[in-house]
Amino acid sequence: MQLLITRFLQFLAVTSLLTIALASQEPLLSISATHGIDALLSLHRHLVRIESITGAEREVSDYLASYLRGLNYSVERQSVWGDRYNVFAYAGKKRNNRVLVTSHIDTVPPFYDYELRERGTQIYGRGSADAKGCVAAQINAVERLRADRALSAGDVALLFVVGEETIGDGMRAANRLGLAWEAVIFGEPTALHLATGHKGIFAFNVHAHGKSAHSGYPELGLNANSLLIRGLAALEKLSLPSSDKFGNTTLNVGRIAGGVAANVIPAEAEASIAVRLAAGTVEEAKALVVEAVHAVDRRLEVHFTFEGYGPVDIDSDVDGFPKMTVNYGTDIPHLHGTHRRYLYGPGSILVAHSDHEHVSVRDLEEAVGGYERLIKDALGRER
Ligand SMILES: *[C@@H]1O[C@H](CO)[C@@H](O)[C@H](O)[C@H]1NC(C)=O
Ligand SMILES: *[C@@H]1O[C@H](CO)[C@@H](O)[C@H](O)[C@H]1NC(C)=O
Ligand SMILES: [Zn+2]
Repeated sequence: MQLLITRFLQFLAVTSLLTIALASQEPLLSISATHGIDALLSLHRHLVRIESITGAEREVSDYLASYLRGLNYSVERQSVWGDRYNVFAYAGKKRNNRVLVTSHIDTVPPFYDYELRERGTQIYGRGSADAKGCVAAQINAVERLRADRALSAGDVALLFVVGEETIGDGMRAANRLGLAWEAVIFGEPTALHLATGHKGIFAFNVHAHGKSAHSGYPELGLNANSLLIRGLAALEKLSLPSSDKFGNTTLNVGRIAGGVAANVIPAEAEASIAVRLAAGTVEEAKALVVEAVHAVDRRLEVHFTFEGYGPVDIDSDVDGFPKMTVNYGTDIPHLHGTHRRYLYGPGSILVAHSDHEHVSVRDLEEAVGGYERLIKDALGRER
């Protein structure tokens, strides 16, 4: 009830501001309806309600492009693959800006709809944290800075990409924009910490080729499942590099498939594995993997399915933020250039990708202030 009254008062405040703005013929851009808490939560709600699983981001790109155009940004649609596109926006006509603020608009499956819980303090839904919370807070932060007249032409551009949750094809395409930045602020859920780095990653399949036969006559066949199991056991025991900064490299056997029936010796078996790399290069780690698998049996084949990248160091030299490393991958290594890189956002990665993904209203609001500080800090530095 108290919340209802507060909402009603907020509604009155916004309405009267609108009236004042219209009466004084101020451009609509300068009223708080475009950058206040209501605008933040409404934008976030619209984004979360649009299903945008990687590969099917068209509708959310359309929404964001028209939303930003409505705020008088110049908006470019950068085609990525099929009907999918990145949304690139800047105020005025200058494409080349000093600072880029960016996040991703695709999500992992399945879709979960927007839902307010705990008396409206927690927002549940797919992408509520990863990373539509970042997208809404970033736009809101830039809007606030514009309203405060803290930005000049050529200061800040916004980029929202598709494809981050799989192969990063959206951010890779962004290299073709032909632009460079002094600093790029990436949005991912860091629980309002400034990330100092993240682990590297690569992925591969191990394939075992055997020979099928009647299970009563094992000497006539070669069991591909048994072969694969021995290969996987060697991988689980494999010592991969660790570091003080990132801790241990971890290896996840995420999928196993093989065989057709209990009474048939299986001819084929395969496993899919992801490695989160804490030290060294991705080439060194791949060589260790191949060596360990072939030491078991040369008939086991290793196919790299994601070329991957090594551990990523991130700039974090801005005061006033708690710092941490994270174990997930981001689009940071996919965007080439000599820019300083920052990683920050509302919500926790510990609930992202889960069926209970959520973000608090409080985190969203605080992140707006955090992004404002990061942008101001970047603009305050020597060119
Ligand atoms: C919209 O942006 C253009 C520059 O691209 C500017 O000239 C114009 O004044 C802006 N309109 C409003 C209503 O702010
Ligand atoms: C790293 O692995 C070692 C050995 O398995 C273990 O004792 C240690 O607790 C691990 N460190 C972290 C940070 O998980
Ligand atoms: Zn993400």
